[in-house]
Amino acid sequence: MKLMVVGGGGREHAIIRSLKKNPDVEVIYALPGNGGIAADAVCVPIGATEIEKIVAFAVEKKMDYAVVAPDDPLVLGCVDALEEKGIPCFGPRANAAIIEGSKAFSKNLMKKYGIPTAAYEIFTELDKALAYLETAPIPTVVKADGLALGKGVIIAQTREEAKQAVTDMMANAKFGASGSTVVIEEFLTGPEVSVLAFTDGKVVRPMVSSMDHKRAGDNDTGLNTGGMGTIAPNPYYTDEIAKQCMKEIFLPTIRAMKKEKRTFKGCLYFGLMLTPNGPKVIEYNCRFGDPETQVVLPLLKSDLLTVMQACTNGTLAKTPVRFSKKHACCVIKASKGYPESYKKGYRLTMSERAERVTFVAGAKLENGKLVTSGGRVTGTTAVRGSLEEAITAAYRLSAGVKFGNAYCRSDIGQRALQAKK
Ligand code: AMP
Ligand code: GLY
Repeated sequence: MKLMVVGGGGREHAIIRSLKKNPDVEVIYALPGNGGIAADAVCVPIGATEIEKIVAFAVEKKMDYAVVAPDDPLVLGCVDALEEKGIPCFGPRANAAIIEGSKAFSKNLMKKYGIPTAAYEIFTELDKALAYLETAPIPTVVKADGLALGKGVIIAQTREEAKQAVTDMMANAKFGASGSTVVIEEFLTGPEVSVLAFTDGKVVRPMVSSMDHKRAGDNDTGLNTGGMGTIAPNPYYTDEIAKQCMKEIFLPTIRAMKKEKRTFKGCLYFGLMLTPNGPKVIEYNCRFGDPETQVVLPLLKSDLLTVMQACTNGTLAKTPVRFSKKHACCVIKASKGYPESYKKGYRLTMSERAERVTFVAGAKLENGKLVTSGGRVTGTTAVRGSLEEAITAAYRLSAGVKFGNAYCRSDIGQRALQAKK
């Protein structure tokens, strides 16, 4: 089979490594992929949002199957465009990807179908939003409606901060068009859990739970990033909570989308907060999370391609999805300065042992050698019998990943270890 994966980060590298395990796979094209992915797939210089070029390439190569991994091509209708040309895809159509593409949509969906989430108000006019903030409970959370690379969320500790955030989004267009509508919501507390789930639109099969580490610095200090490391499974997510989430959140969401004639097929990501009043949805993503995927897929025992095709074909009910009982830890190495400005172009080297378990996010090939080209550069994942062993091994292995200006958090998994004790 000829496969194509749209995207070019650590998540896509993890997806490609898992897909490659299927003996029927002859070749995988990555659009655009990256310098590290080039070791596992044929990289094609077409950007992930160049929908017309993606479709033309898939048609020319008579692609057997396509996986669209990032949020923006999904929201732009990449799956719709490929399916129109008869190419089967993993990923939701645009009318379902809106569950991530518009926070106003997802909040209204949850309200309509009684899915637990933070209380909220939606505003399209600045003066109404400012007036609301005069009496809103503080702290409060201000979110830009559209995709903003995870940066469109402000936790405001004071009324002034909240007003500033709303003004930046609505009047100063700090997040572009994505901020012309804002959601202001109740501040929730509790441990966060990421649950990625396969779905064919009828059946939902949650993957092993995970925990992201979003802040740039140790002990959750510093700026929010795309994610500095992950562990799986998440110790806060007990079997009992999993059952409750299935009943109150996962199934109701899949059914709601179907009822709205927006059947969701692909990977639905539930960002949950385990509050004193039960699990609540913080956000939905219409795709695999990154770096969650880098711990979740290494624990998948079933064949990824088979499971993905079952999502596409609507046969997930008959397809087993099994995970290992082991533990995984992924340590991200980033360029110093990320998520703000940073230097790139440093030579990236990996020991043989590290390379086998390292997913490359931000590096390109120059004269056949890897050099850094992004904020997050690598993710190194260890799978072991216990969380403690996985953490130790992930750090030991990631020491074999070297590049100029590198930094990583030193405490990935520590909060989870505390929770287990
Ligand atoms: P999001 O982009 O929606 O995932 O938000 C980014 C981060 O902001 C989340 O991972 C949470 O840590 C935090 N967050 C978002 N919404 C809330 C909320 N209602 N209450 C508390 N924290 C929140
Ligand atoms: N790691 C969070 C995300 O993928 O959105």
